[in-house]
Amino acid sequence: MAETPLHKVMLDESEMPTRWYNIVPDLPSPPPPALHPGTLQPAGPEDFLPLFPMDLILQEVSTDRYIDIPAEVQDIYRMWRPSPLYRAHRLEKALGTPARIYYKYEGVSPAGSHKPNTAVPQAYYNAKAGVKKLTTETGAGQWGTALAFACALFDMACEVWQVGASYDAKPYRRTMMEVFGASVHRSPSELTAAGRALFAQDPHHPGSLGIAISEAVEIAAPDPEVRYALGSVLNHVLMHQTIIGEEALLQFAKIGEKPDVIVGCTGGGSNFGGLTFPFLREKMAGNMTPTIRAVEPASCPSLTQGVYAYDFGDTAGLTPLMKMHTLGHGFIPDPIHAGGLRYHGMSPLLSHIYELGLIEAIAVPQTECFGAAIQFARTEGIVPAPEPTHALAACIREALACKESGEEKVILTALCGHGHLDLASYDAYLSGTMVDEVITGDRFTAALADLPQVPA
Ligand SMILES: Cc1ncc(COP(=O)(O)O)c(C=O)c1O
Repeated sequence: MAETPLHKVMLDESEMPTRWYNIVPDLPSPPPPALHPGTLQPAGPEDFLPLFPMDLILQEVSTDRYIDIPAEVQDIYRMWRPSPLYRAHRLEKALGTPARIYYKYEGVSPAGSHKPNTAVPQAYYNAKAGVKKLTTETGAGQWGTALAFACALFDMACEVWQVGASYDAKPYRRTMMEVFGASVHRSPSELTAAGRALFAQDPHHPGSLGIAISEAVEIAAPDPEVRYALGSVLNHVLMHQTIIGEEALLQFAKIGEKPDVIVGCTGGGSNFGGLTFPFLREKMAGNMTPTIRAVEPASCPSLTQGVYAYDFGDTAGLTPLMKMHTLGHGFIPDPIHAGGLRYHGMSPLLSHIYELGLIEAIAVPQTECFGAAIQFARTEGIVPAPEPTHALAACIREALACKESGEEKVILTALCGHGHLDLASYDAYLSGTMVDEVITGDRFTAALADLPQVPA
């Protein structure tokens, strides 16, 4: 009898990694520091105190290679972790490719994505510091849901500014956040100075992650009982997500495979960094040689078309300056369906790693992404969130190249969320109303001219 093909590689709860990986000490040079927006000097831990508790600030600037995951956080992780690593047999067959495609599925979490991997520790450290409420932004709605869930576990209030385009398109995301106890506002809102001006211009303004961040930061900073939580971009967020890549390494070891190509979607860089950094560590140590490729939307191409410069993390200019690939903090991306990828910047750590030439990047238009997602859903049975459709499109490109060349490459991606609350986007694709905006350099000119001036 033929051997039954392996569909998923599971780890036992006792095999779940108990440390996060910090890639910074393994890099050939450290990433440039964040700058205080007033003095333009490197920002010290105290500059972040109005926003974050000290434990997270110390993780942000840590040069320790590993940080232990607190026992209480591990216990919550085990509600859904370790997550499965699937082999996409039926997709491979449909493509007729000799490539072997694997995906690490994070849609099994309570929020439906990778976001609780950092929401839980962020809520934990804030609760430990006596914080009573967390504010945040959400683009896709996944991060807001994850933080609402985490705050419920630690008995903290949670206030979320949901990007306008996503608030309108995904009413059930708001409901889900409210089920977990959060209060949710459409951004731009009339509740903040940052939101009011834009709301006055257009009450139906589609918003952006940069604007929603400004609103959440503005409410948190002056109130000592309130802190802000960011769902991506920062070093500590990417570090919390490395549990994905650490598990995937163990899962690959179980089946004696090594990836040749790793692709992941990038909004602020957290699922991509989380999946790839442990593999990059192994690559830098000479243990494997995967090509590592970030995939971003053609409408918001910060890595492939942005500049590498100091810029604000938000639209109103309230955050420290970070050196990153940016389209300019004033850039408002088109309201594409992958709301979680509509961010003007990119993680400074990931930007630095890109500058060092350790990863590649490509930009893909959304109709190709949704086409890939439909093919994936009809073969593998999971409806992906709009963000990882970008990774799937890149996977399929790679698998079809293998079909041409006959190479049996091992491809790994993160299916970082399901799309059960994103069906309006699928409706748009299936009814033929989804469009690919053609975006040219002039769209970026105004926002790039407005970058903060920082002496070399
Ligand atoms: C499912 C999903 N994937 C990806 C992203 C993009 O964020 P990041 O680049 O931090 O993974 C988001 C952001 O909201 C998301 O919800």
